Amino acid sequence: MLGYKRGEKQNECDNQLAIVTGGASGLGAAAARELAKAGANIAIFDRNRNLGEALAKEVSGLFFEVDVTSESQVKEAISESGRQLGEPRVLVNSAGIALNLEVLDENLQPHPLQDFAELINVNLLGTFNCLRLFAAAAAAAPALDEGERGVIVNVASVSGFDSRPDQIAYTASKAGVIGLTLGAARSLGKLGIRVVTIAPGLFDTPIVSELKLDAEQIQQFTNDLSIPFPVRMGEPREFGELVAAICRIRYLNGEVIRLDGGVRLA
Ligand code: NAI
Repeated sequence: MLGYKRGEKQNECDNQLAIVTGGASGLGAAAARELAKAGANIAIFDRNRNLGEALAKEVSGLFFEVDVTSESQVKEAISESGRQLGEPRVLVNSAGIALNLEVLDENLQPHPLQDFAELINVNLLGTFNCLRLFAAAAAAAPALDEGERGVIVNVASVSGFDSRPDQIAYTASKAGVIGLTLGAARSLGKLGIRVVTIAPGLFDTPIVSELKLDAEQIQQFTNDLSIPFPVRMGEPREFGELVAAICRIRYLNGEVIRLDGGVRLA
Protein backbone atom coordinates (compact mmCIF):
# COMPACT_ATOMS: atom_id res chain seq x y z
CA MET A 1 0.00 0.00 0.00
CA LEU A 2 2.27 2.83 1.19
CA GLY A 3 6.04 2.97 1.22
CA TYR A 4 7.05 1.17 -1.97
CA LYS A 5 10.29 2.41 -3.48
CA ARG A 6 10.09 4.65 -6.52
CA GLY A 7 10.39 2.73 -9.76
CA GLU A 8 9.75 -0.57 -8.05
CA LYS A 9 6.65 -2.65 -8.17
CA GLN A 10 4.56 -2.20 -5.08
CA ASN A 11 5.40 -4.60 -2.27
CA GLU A 12 2.83 -6.34 -0.15
CA CYS A 13 2.29 -3.93 2.71
CA ASP A 14 3.44 -5.12 6.04
CA ASN A 15 1.84 -4.24 9.34
CA GLN A 16 0.03 -1.17 7.96
CA LEU A 17 -3.15 -0.01 9.67
CA ALA A 18 -5.94 1.56 7.60
CA ILE A 19 -8.69 3.24 9.62
CA VAL A 20 -12.04 3.65 7.88
CA THR A 21 -14.64 5.85 9.58
CA GLY A 22 -18.18 5.08 8.47
CA GLY A 23 -16.71 1.76 7.37
CA ALA A 24 -19.73 -0.24 8.52
CA SER A 25 -21.71 0.70 5.41
CA GLY A 26 -21.75 1.96 1.84
CA LEU A 27 -18.68 3.74 0.50
CA GLY A 28 -16.63 3.21 3.67
CA ALA A 29 -17.29 -0.54 3.56
CA ALA A 30 -16.19 -0.65 -0.08
CA ALA A 31 -12.98 1.21 0.81
CA ALA A 32 -12.32 -1.22 3.67
CA ARG A 33 -12.71 -4.19 1.29
CA GLU A 34 -10.31 -2.74 -1.30
CA LEU A 35 -7.69 -1.75 1.29
CA ALA A 36 -7.89 -5.23 2.84
CA LYS A 37 -7.28 -6.68 -0.65
CA ALA A 38 -4.19 -4.45 -0.87
CA GLY A 39 -2.96 -6.06 2.34
CA ALA A 40 -3.78 -3.44 4.97
CA ASN A 41 -5.01 -4.27 8.47
CA ILE A 42 -8.43 -2.68 8.75
CA ALA A 43 -10.00 -0.83 11.70
CA ILE A 44 -13.64 0.16 11.24
CA PHE A 45 -14.66 3.25 13.26
CA ASP A 46 -18.45 3.57 13.21
CA ARG A 47 -21.41 4.00 15.53
CA ASN A 48 -23.29 1.08 13.95
CA ARG A 49 -22.05 -1.91 15.95
CA ASN A 50 -23.98 -4.69 14.13
CA LEU A 51 -22.89 -3.73 10.63
CA GLY A 52 -19.43 -2.66 11.79
CA GLU A 53 -18.64 -5.97 13.45
CA ALA A 54 -19.86 -7.93 10.43
CA LEU A 55 -17.69 -5.90 8.06
CA ALA A 56 -14.67 -6.14 10.37
CA LYS A 57 -15.07 -9.92 10.40
CA GLU A 58 -15.35 -10.05 6.61
CA VAL A 59 -12.07 -8.14 6.14
CA SER A 60 -10.32 -9.81 9.11
CA GLY A 61 -10.05 -6.48 10.88
CA LEU A 62 -11.39 -4.94 14.07
CA PHE A 63 -14.45 -2.84 14.84
CA PHE A 64 -14.37 0.16 17.21
CA GLU A 65 -17.64 1.76 18.29
CA VAL A 66 -16.79 5.40 17.77
CA ASP A 67 -18.65 8.64 17.26
CA VAL A 68 -16.37 10.64 14.96
CA THR A 69 -17.24 13.88 16.76
CA SER A 70 -15.83 12.64 20.08
CA GLU A 71 -12.24 13.57 20.84
CA SER A 72 -11.80 10.93 23.54
CA GLN A 73 -13.41 8.05 21.59
CA VAL A 74 -11.43 8.71 18.41
CA LYS A 75 -8.15 9.20 20.30
CA GLU A 76 -8.60 5.96 22.25
CA ALA A 77 -9.63 3.96 19.16
CA ILE A 78 -6.62 5.22 17.16
CA SER A 79 -4.24 4.25 19.89
CA GLU A 80 -5.87 0.83 20.54
CA SER A 81 -6.12 -0.06 16.83
CA GLY A 82 -2.46 0.97 16.46
CA ARG A 83 -1.47 -1.34 19.30
CA GLN A 84 -3.33 -4.27 17.76
CA LEU A 85 -3.03 -3.74 14.02
CA GLY A 86 0.19 -1.83 13.26
CA GLU A 87 1.37 1.65 12.32
CA PRO A 88 -1.46 4.03 11.36
CA ARG A 89 -0.80 4.73 7.66
CA VAL A 90 -4.23 5.35 6.09
CA LEU A 91 -7.34 7.20 7.26
CA VAL A 92 -10.52 7.17 5.16
CA ASN A 93 -13.01 9.71 6.53
CA SER A 94 -16.29 8.27 5.21
CA ALA A 95 -18.65 8.75 8.18
CA GLY A 96 -21.38 11.16 7.22
CA ILE A 97 -25.07 12.01 7.39
CA ALA A 98 -27.46 13.77 5.01
CA LEU A 99 -30.51 16.02 5.39
CA ASN A 100 -32.96 17.40 2.84
CA LEU A 101 -34.01 20.90 3.93
CA GLU A 102 -34.07 24.34 2.28
CA VAL A 103 -33.34 27.69 3.96
CA LEU A 104 -37.11 28.17 4.39
CA ASP A 105 -39.70 25.38 4.24
CA GLU A 106 -42.94 25.50 2.23
CA ASN A 107 -44.58 27.47 5.07
CA LEU A 108 -41.66 29.94 5.02
CA GLN A 109 -40.39 28.65 8.35
CA PRO A 110 -36.60 28.91 8.73
CA HIS A 111 -34.29 25.89 8.70
CA PRO A 112 -33.85 24.69 12.32
CA LEU A 113 -30.44 25.86 13.50
CA GLN A 114 -29.92 22.66 15.47
CA ASP A 115 -30.24 20.53 12.30
CA PHE A 116 -27.71 22.72 10.51
CA ALA A 117 -25.31 22.43 13.47
CA GLU A 118 -25.71 18.62 13.51
CA LEU A 119 -24.70 18.31 9.84
CA ILE A 120 -21.67 20.54 10.33
CA ASN A 121 -20.81 18.65 13.50
CA VAL A 122 -20.74 15.16 11.97
CA ASN A 123 -19.62 15.86 8.40
CA LEU A 124 -17.11 18.68 8.92
CA LEU A 125 -16.07 18.70 12.56
CA GLY A 126 -16.07 14.87 12.68
CA THR A 127 -13.86 14.74 9.58
CA PHE A 128 -11.43 17.27 11.01
CA ASN A 129 -11.42 15.60 14.43
CA CYS A 130 -10.32 12.27 12.90
CA LEU A 131 -7.91 13.99 10.50
CA ARG A 132 -6.04 15.86 13.25
CA LEU A 133 -5.87 12.91 15.68
CA PHE A 134 -4.79 10.49 12.94
CA ALA A 135 -2.15 13.00 11.75
CA ALA A 136 -0.68 13.17 15.27
CA ALA A 137 -0.42 9.36 15.39
CA ALA A 138 0.97 9.01 11.85
CA ALA A 139 3.54 11.75 12.51
CA ALA A 140 4.99 9.58 15.29
CA ALA A 141 5.37 6.53 12.99
CA PRO A 142 8.68 5.81 11.24
CA ALA A 143 9.06 7.33 7.77
CA LEU A 144 8.76 5.05 4.74
CA ASP A 145 10.27 5.57 1.28
CA GLU A 146 10.74 9.28 0.38
CA GLY A 147 9.75 10.20 3.94
CA GLU A 148 6.12 9.17 3.44
CA ARG A 149 4.22 8.54 6.67
CA GLY A 150 0.56 8.34 5.77
CA VAL A 151 -2.39 9.38 3.67
CA ILE A 152 -5.77 10.82 4.62
CA VAL A 153 -8.70 10.40 2.21
CA ASN A 154 -11.69 12.62 3.01
CA VAL A 155 -15.14 12.21 1.51
CA ALA A 156 -16.96 15.34 0.32
CA SER A 157 -19.69 15.31 -2.36
CA VAL A 158 -20.40 16.94 -5.71
CA SER A 159 -22.99 18.89 -3.68
CA GLY A 160 -20.04 20.67 -2.08
CA PHE A 161 -19.28 22.22 -5.51
CA ASP A 162 -22.72 22.37 -7.18
CA SER A 163 -24.49 23.83 -4.14
CA ARG A 164 -27.95 22.27 -3.74
CA PRO A 165 -30.85 24.40 -2.46
CA ASP A 166 -32.66 21.41 -0.94
CA GLN A 167 -29.66 20.18 1.07
CA ILE A 168 -28.30 23.46 2.31
CA ALA A 169 -26.63 22.15 5.49
CA TYR A 170 -25.19 19.07 3.75
CA THR A 171 -23.83 21.23 0.94
CA ALA A 172 -22.18 23.63 3.42
CA SER A 173 -20.60 20.76 5.38
CA LYS A 174 -19.15 19.17 2.23
CA ALA A 175 -17.87 22.53 0.91
CA GLY A 176 -16.01 22.77 4.23
CA VAL A 177 -14.33 19.41 3.65
CA ILE A 178 -13.32 20.53 0.14
CA GLY A 179 -12.00 23.77 1.61
CA LEU A 180 -9.71 22.20 4.18
CA THR A 181 -8.09 19.71 1.78
CA LEU A 182 -5.29 21.83 0.31
CA GLY A 183 -4.54 23.60 3.58
CA ALA A 184 -4.23 20.30 5.46
CA ALA A 185 -1.99 18.84 2.71
CA ARG A 186 0.25 21.93 2.87
CA SER A 187 0.36 21.76 6.63
CA LEU A 188 1.14 18.03 6.87
CA GLY A 189 3.42 17.74 3.84
CA LYS A 190 6.54 18.36 5.89
CA LEU A 191 5.68 15.20 7.85
CA GLY A 192 5.14 13.09 4.73
CA ILE A 193 1.37 12.90 5.26
CA ARG A 194 -0.82 13.44 2.18
CA VAL A 195 -4.42 14.65 2.15
CA VAL A 196 -6.77 13.94 -0.75
CA THR A 197 -10.57 14.32 -0.94
CA ILE A 198 -13.02 12.40 -3.11
CA ALA A 199 -16.23 14.18 -4.13
CA PRO A 200 -18.64 11.39 -5.15
CA GLY A 201 -21.68 11.84 -7.35
CA LEU A 202 -24.67 9.55 -6.74
CA PHE A 203 -23.68 6.11 -5.45
CA ASP A 204 -25.72 3.02 -4.82
CA THR A 205 -25.46 2.78 -1.02
CA PRO A 206 -27.97 2.30 1.82
CA ILE A 207 -28.64 6.08 1.86
CA VAL A 208 -30.04 5.73 -1.66
CA SER A 209 -31.51 2.21 -1.41
CA GLU A 210 -33.65 3.45 1.50
CA LEU A 211 -35.51 5.48 -1.12
CA LYS A 212 -36.67 2.06 -2.51
CA LEU A 213 -36.68 3.14 -6.17
CA ASP A 214 -37.47 0.52 -8.83
CA ALA A 215 -35.25 0.08 -11.90
CA GLU A 216 -37.34 2.47 -14.02
CA GLN A 217 -37.27 5.20 -11.34
CA ILE A 218 -33.50 4.81 -10.99
CA GLN A 219 -33.11 5.16 -14.78
CA GLN A 220 -35.31 8.26 -14.73
CA PHE A 221 -33.38 9.68 -11.79
CA THR A 222 -29.99 9.15 -13.39
CA ASN A 223 -31.27 10.57 -16.72
CA ASP A 224 -32.59 13.65 -14.90
CA LEU A 225 -29.14 14.22 -13.42
CA SER A 226 -27.71 14.39 -17.00
CA ILE A 227 -24.76 12.15 -16.27
CA PRO A 228 -22.69 12.19 -19.50
CA PHE A 229 -21.34 8.63 -19.13
CA PRO A 230 -21.95 6.04 -17.77
CA VAL A 231 -25.62 6.85 -17.17
CA ARG A 232 -26.07 5.03 -13.88
CA MET A 233 -25.28 5.38 -10.20
CA GLY A 234 -21.70 4.83 -9.12
CA GLU A 235 -20.81 1.45 -7.70
CA PRO A 236 -19.25 1.51 -4.23
CA ARG A 237 -16.47 -0.74 -5.56
CA GLU A 238 -15.42 2.09 -7.91
CA PHE A 239 -15.05 4.37 -4.89
CA GLY A 240 -13.02 1.71 -3.04
CA GLU A 241 -10.71 1.30 -6.01
CA LEU A 242 -10.07 5.04 -6.13
CA VAL A 243 -9.20 5.05 -2.42
CA ALA A 244 -6.69 2.24 -2.99
CA ALA A 245 -5.21 4.09 -6.00
CA ILE A 246 -4.84 7.30 -3.94
CA CYS A 247 -2.92 5.31 -1.34
CA ARG A 248 -0.59 3.90 -4.01
CA ILE A 249 0.05 7.04 -6.06
CA ARG A 250 2.32 9.14 -3.91
CA TYR A 251 2.38 12.19 -6.18
CA LEU A 252 -1.36 12.69 -5.63
CA ASN A 253 -1.80 15.26 -2.87
CA GLY A 254 -3.89 18.30 -1.89
CA GLU A 255 -6.48 17.49 -4.56
CA VAL A 256 -10.26 17.05 -4.64
CA ILE A 257 -11.26 14.37 -7.15
CA ARG A 258 -14.81 14.23 -8.47
CA LEU A 259 -15.99 10.66 -8.99
CA ASP A 260 -19.28 11.25 -10.74
CA GLY A 261 -19.45 10.15 -14.41
CA GLY A 262 -19.04 13.84 -15.32
CA VAL A 263 -22.32 14.97 -13.73
CA ARG A 264 -22.91 18.64 -12.88
CA LEU A 265 -25.97 19.22 -10.71
CA ALA A 266 -28.43 21.71 -12.15
P1 NAI B 1 -23.96 5.18 4.57
O1 NAI B 1 -25.11 5.70 5.34
O2 NAI B 1 -24.08 3.88 3.86
O3 NAI B 1 -22.64 5.15 5.50
C1 NAI B 1 -22.34 6.16 6.41
C2 NAI B 1 -21.75 5.51 7.66
O4 NAI B 1 -21.34 6.55 8.56
C3 NAI B 1 -22.77 4.63 8.43
O5 NAI B 1 -22.20 3.36 8.69
C4 NAI B 1 -23.01 5.41 9.72
O6 NAI B 1 -23.27 4.58 10.84
C5 NAI B 1 -21.69 6.16 9.86
N1 NAI B 1 -21.81 7.34 10.72
C6 NAI B 1 -22.67 8.38 10.59
N2 NAI B 1 -22.47 9.28 11.56
C7 NAI B 1 -21.44 8.82 12.32
C8 NAI B 1 -20.77 9.30 13.49
N3 NAI B 1 -21.12 10.47 14.08
N4 NAI B 1 -19.75 8.58 13.98
C9 NAI B 1 -19.39 7.41 13.42
N5 NAI B 1 -20.00 6.88 12.33
C10 NAI B 1 -21.03 7.58 11.79
O7 NAI B 1 -23.63 6.34 3.51
P2 NAI B 1 -22.56 6.35 2.31
O8 NAI B 1 -23.33 6.56 1.07
O9 NAI B 1 -21.60 5.25 2.40
O10 NAI B 1 -21.81 7.72 2.64
C11 NAI B 1 -20.44 7.76 2.99
C12 NAI B 1 -19.95 9.18 2.78
O11 NAI B 1 -20.05 9.49 1.40
C13 NAI B 1 -20.79 10.24 3.52
O12 NAI B 1 -19.91 11.22 4.02
C14 NAI B 1 -21.67 10.80 2.43
O13 NAI B 1 -22.05 12.12 2.71
C15 NAI B 1 -20.74 10.71 1.24
N6 NAI B 1 -21.40 10.72 -0.05
C16 NAI B 1 -22.26 9.71 -0.42
C17 NAI B 1 -22.88 9.75 -1.65
C18 NAI B 1 -23.84 8.68 -2.13
O14 NAI B 1 -24.48 8.87 -3.18
N7 NAI B 1 -23.96 7.56 -1.45
C19 NAI B 1 -22.66 10.89 -2.58
C20 NAI B 1 -21.72 11.86 -2.10
C21 NAI B 1 -21.13 11.78 -0.88
